[in-house]
Amino acid sequence: MLAWLDEAGAAFTSQVCGSPRMVTKCISKVIFQRPVRPGQIIKIYADVVKIGNTSITVKLEARRHSVVNGSQKPVCEVEMTFVRIDGDGEPVPIINVKKEYQDRRTKPKPE
Ligand SMILES: CC(C)(COP(=O)(O)OP(=O)(O)OC[C@H]1O[C@@H](n2cnc3c(N)ncnc32)[C@H](O)[C@@H]1OP(=O)(O)O)[C@@H](O)C(=O)NCCC(=O)NCCS
Repeated sequence: MLAWLDEAGAAFTSQVCGSPRMVTKCISKVIFQRPVRPGQIIKIYADVVKIGNTSITVKLEARRHSVVNGSQKPVCEVEMTFVRIDGDGEPVPIINVKKEYQDRRTKPKPE
């Protein structure tokens, strides 16, 4: 489950930051609410908590989806921080934040 959330977080933050090179810096506040059994459908939802200079923190929620009645029940939630890196693996400023998330910046936009 954590590996799925990590992958989803990387894909989501890459889109939000317009950069394919995002690495996981921190995984915190993991809450396992319900068990998941083989064969169950899991949907993962993400939202941006904050965007710093080189880092972005997101909240991810995995929900168990019922094909019988369409209901969704939270199974796991986590907060993760990803850092934008360059080709040498060094942190670099996030500069291409998607319009709808620009208000989540906690630091001035880098020039
Ligand atoms: C990601 C990495 C390049 C960052 O390098 P660093 O020397 O820690 O860089 P910095 O100290 O400049 O911190 C970079 C950002 O991370 C944030 N950060 C540092 N420690 C943090 C922590 N414990 N939790 C959350 N954010 C943190 C900093 O605040 C900074 O964000 P900002 O620029 O928005 O303010 C480096 O730590 C690394 O390569 N880690 C391994 C990544 C990895 O392999 N991930 C996969 C794990 S399976």
